[in-house]
Amino acid sequence: MTDKTVEIKISGKTIQARAGETLVHALWAAGMAESVKTGCAGGVCGACTVTLRYSDGRTGGTELACMKPVEAGMEVFPCPVEADVSVAPVAEPELSHLQLAFPTLNRCTKCGSCTTACPMSIPVMDSVLRMQKGEFQAVAEDFTTCIHCGLCRFVCEDKVKPHNMGLWIRRSLGMSQDIAIEKTDANAEQEWQYLLDKDRAQRLQRARQFRQSGRIEP
Ligand code: SF4
Ligand code: SF4
Ligand code: FES
Repeated sequence: MTDKTVEIKISGKTIQARAGETLVHALWAAGMAESVKTGCAGGVCGACTVTLRYSDGRTGGTELACMKPVEAGMEVFPCPVEADVSVAPVAEPELSHLQLAFPTLNRCTKCGSCTTACPMSIPVMDSVLRMQKGEFQAVAEDFTTCIHCGLCRFVCEDKVKPHNMGLWIRRSLGMSQDIAIEKTDANAEQEWQYLLDKDRAQRLQRARQFRQSGRIEP
């Protein structure tokens, strides 16, 4: 083993890895690509979930293997998070709709594990508490950067499914906005024409304005 090489364990099997490379690259180099699911290799798709343990007594946790550099003595346990059954969104969602779609909502014991597990630093537990109060706009904001790795669901002993609810809320609000635009904006056709005809700078300006106000200004 050279000073640029470290020893790590994958599901109990010892491999050599180059110091500083990511776990995914170490696995590829060791001919163990199959041991962890991989998609984007850039921290976007959430496929490469693992749990880690350290030999020096540090507390381990959940990580994305494509973003985590190897460290000497690291033990890696792949934890592929299976997809959950998708629940259809509801236009103009209310708390009762969410409770019906996800009866697990009120099981949260405020343990905080979901927040600790989230590789995107989303305040998942706080967002679950906001869901319980029906604060859906705030929840939609919370989950803007969610990559749907599923780790918050994976670690939740109470099977609360935070990110599935976050996604459902975002989809439901999006659906409501689509319907509101269809109902109230008689100029939808004109807006399409605008988007197709105007130059890029004007379109970007218009998109920014829409993101800020949520409305298409005349
Ligand atoms: S892990 Fe589950 S029970 Fe714990 S705070 Fe998150 S949602 Fe609540
Ligand atoms: S909220 Fe959950 S699914 Fe989304 S990135 Fe965080 S841990 Fe992954
Ligand atoms: S492979 Fe996509 S997040 Fe790691």
